[in-house]
Amino acid sequence: MAKRKTKAEKPMLPVFGDMPPDGFTYQVSEVKATYEETLMLEATTLWDYPKQSYGKTSKGNNKYPGVTPAFIIWNLVQRYTQPGDLVVDPMAGSGTTIDVCKEQGRQVIGYDIAPAHPEVIQNDARNVPLEDNSVDMMFIDSPYSDNIRYSDNPDCIGKISCEDERFFEELEKVAKEAYRILKPGKVLGWLIGDQWVKKKFTPVGFKLYQCLSKYFETVDVVCVVRRGQSSNTGLWYNRARRFNFYLRGFKYLLIMRKPDSNSVQKEEARSVKWASYERGKTKRKKPKLKMESGNIATSG
Ligand SMILES: C[S@@+](CC[C@H](N)C(=O)[O-])C[C@H]1O[C@@H](n2cnc3c(N)ncnc32)[C@H](O)[C@@H]1O
Repeated sequence: MAKRKTKAEKPMLPVFGDMPPDGFTYQVSEVKATYEETLMLEATTLWDYPKQSYGKTSKGNNKYPGVTPAFIIWNLVQRYTQPGDLVVDPMAGSGTTIDVCKEQGRQVIGYDIAPAHPEVIQNDARNVPLEDNSVDMMFIDSPYSDNIRYSDNPDCIGKISCEDERFFEELEKVAKEAYRILKPGKVLGWLIGDQWVKKKFTPVGFKLYQCLSKYFETVDVVCVVRRGQSSNTGLWYNRARRFNFYLRGFKYLLIMRKPDSNSVQKEEARSVKWASYERGKTKRKKPKLKMESGNIATSG
């Protein structure tokens, strides 16, 4: 006879049918414990951080509206920079990028139109006072629309709605500056989310991706689970079901690289072709695996 599951063996997943308002909070605290112990490089394109920061010291200010989860920056810094490299965040807000980079032994400069951290320098992201080809990595978590009031500064791009094309024109100016100051072959990580307001969906992520693609080549696109939003309540979950809309569940992390003609040549030189490989003792025709640009081609 099948053993009945005890309470302790039941999976800790939220039950969406009758989830109490604090359903997610409970779930989150379970995951929190795991993250406390392990700060690991992400291996997939789905990233989920139940809390904003890690470690003994805070990274940025978790009370700042739209603060970035520090784990995102940590992952990018680990993957795409070396100790001593220069990282720049032109929309640094409460300074999460500064705090992460300093702890990791990277040089860092953070700018913002309305700084909220003592080391963030006041500057407009559309005109960065740095030389061409001088930066090793950039991170940007820009406004996604006019949904958050960051400051009263009239040059804040977060005062323009993403339903207005001007929003993307201004972000394109930021993208051009990023392209100008990054060294060839170096990486820009840009966090962005879509908008659904008053029954109108705006694909902010796709539109920004389209814009960035004019200048950069794509390394990858990551989905980051959205947490800590004011709509993360039972009331909003019920509204979403009742009035037939979806709450925003994720953001895009667009990982882009400034093209480098040398790196293309290097990649071609690294190309490996695997003719075939032994697999068990069967006499079946062996499958051919092709490895291009150092990556095994996979599907699905
Ligand atoms: C999502 S927040 C960034 C949060 C930041 N990464 C943190 O962890 O605190 C977006 C930031 O863009 C800034 N911003 C908006 N327009 C800007 C502009 N024209 N130049 C520089 N910063 C700007 C806002 O002041 C805001 O701090």
